[in-house]
Amino acid sequence: MKIVFATGNGGKLREASEILGEGFELVTLAQAGIGEDIPETGKTLKANSILKAEHVWNRCGLTCFADDTGLEVDALGGAPGVYTARYAGDGKDFSRNIDKLLHELSVREAEASMASALGVRMKKVSRRARFVSVVTLIIGGERHIFEGVLEGTIARSRSGSGGFGYDPVFIPDEYPGKTLAEITEEQKNAISHRGKALRAMAEFLKETEAR
Ligand code: IMP
Repeated sequence: MKIVFATGNGGKLREASEILGEGFELVTLAQAGIGEDIPETGKTLKANSILKAEHVWNRCGLTCFADDTGLEVDALGGAPGVYTARYAGDGKDFSRNIDKLLHELSVREAEASMASALGVRMKKVSRRARFVSVVTLIIGGERHIFEGVLEGTIARSRSGSGGFGYDPVFIPDEYPGKTLAEITEEQKNAISHRGKALRAMAEFLKETEAR
């Protein structure tokens, strides 16, 4: 089945084609004749995921899907969340995004240890975090939403060279002591937010085709 994936992110594209496997032929935005940047002006991951998928549907009318992913860190009140791609500015520079994330967490930890030195009781700073992916599929003009979550913690520094984005600082619960950038792509896809959401989408499409 041919399906347009509304992303310009090579890492996402590679993972999605591995996750969906042979029954799906992924068409890129460029191949679908869509060259412009798709606006991501929504206030939630779901809103942005729908915006991206609807943009593609309105431009080419082909079965398509979009993925919007956010990283939610407990000690930062759920930030960067919907601003994950632009955490350190509009340049979407993932190295600067990671620098900012590690800096914000170390500031929170320094504040907590200063408070405890002054005898003020404060909750320990939690490095717990999760990736959330919201996938919107549009088929026959109808939209369907799928979600996947990966729980873990934020490392103190970068490790590993695999994956993309925040992978070098995200330690999934399934691989204690290893970041997503230190496990294989196959291992990441089997547990990841994107893997869960896209497998649910593939299951739905197979059931729809069988009817
Ligand atoms: P968006 O869904 O394209 O808006 O991506 C949001 C941000 O999250 C970007 O900075 C991506 O690099 C990052 N991101 C998305 N998926 C992953 C992932 O699986 N691992 C690490 N970073 C990710």
